[in-house]
Amino acid sequence: MQFTGAHILSIEQFERSDIERVFQVADSMEPYAQRRKVTRVLEGAILGNMFFEPSTRTRVSFGAAFNLLGGEVRETTGFQSTAIAKGESLYDTARVLSGYSDVICMRHPQSGSVAEFAAASRVPVINGGDGSNEHPSQALLDLYTIRKELIASGRGVDGLRIAMIGDLKFGRTVHSLCKLLCLYRDIQVTLVSPTELAMPEQLVEELRAAGHQVLVSEDLAGGIGHVDIAYSTRIQEERFTSREEANLYRGRFRLNQAIYTQYCEPNTVIMHPLPRDSREDANELDNDLNLNPNLAIFRQADNGVLVRMALFALILDVVEQVDRFARPVNWYSGRE
Ligand code: CP
Repeated sequence: MQFTGAHILSIEQFERSDIERVFQVADSMEPYAQRRKVTRVLEGAILGNMFFEPSTRTRVSFGAAFNLLGGEVRETTGFQSTAIAKGESLYDTARVLSGYSDVICMRHPQSGSVAEFAAASRVPVINGGDGSNEHPSQALLDLYTIRKELIASGRGVDGLRIAMIGDLKFGRTVHSLCKLLCLYRDIQVTLVSPTELAMPEQLVEELRAAGHQVLVSEDLAGGIGHVDIAYSTRIQEERFTSREEANLYRGRFRLNQAIYTQYCEPNTVIMHPLPRDSREDANELDNDLNLNPNLAIFRQADNGVLVRMALFALILDVVEQVDRFARPVNWYSGRE
């Protein structure tokens, strides 16, 4: 794919070679993300960060990634702080904000809304999550994490065994991840969810068409027994008609240290796109896993900065210039 100037709206845009390119650039961003070096390659550039739904990781890590490349960030959060609350259309909003920005990242509750916005934008737009449809940068950082976690055991993505657990109907991260896995070979995907929250059939068909083995189950213990990755997800309460409806499913598939010890292989890596719901009635990924070295959720979140830096560098065509604008950091940095 041609990265320069591209919108990033769906994983369907990517070929396997494109993914390798993103990961190669992400690797090269480590000295900057880990505060060993500073670069000003995007000095003068502005990211418009438009989040119409709550976000901690995606919003802040896109912003931090842009700052780490030397650019500035302007943000709106929620509908009430924008003129959309006064009836302005996505078209007008896109025309206006793309005049203020060099690239825009957007999250919106409606599927397809980011693509609609991008069609009117004068600058590249990155989908930070559109309803239950897609979250492409999350899938990229998830696969980047899987690849890094498996390197220690000499494994690659081809031949991967992964269980996706929880709300697979509304979880956009697993939708994008399934599409991404279709670019790889010989994958075993176990889908553990309540029947009512099953992975959309279209995505199951795409996985099978890619030659992958897909197992559908309501049994957590059986589903996590022989996998490299146990990928847990939250019940997406915001997509339900009421909290009561979400309560029907909350807490159904809880992974904790005792269950992990009893059913998982010793090296199974635990992932979650976060936020995990740590309220007592949910707790799909228990805090008692926090000291488990195979809990990769915070490494996963850290990797989001690398992958998002890579996307900006590729879209704005500065990959080859990043190091030319580099210098050592001035401040104390006690990071590992
Ligand atoms: N993973 C993710 O999208 O997290 P946020 O909702 O905090 O952005």
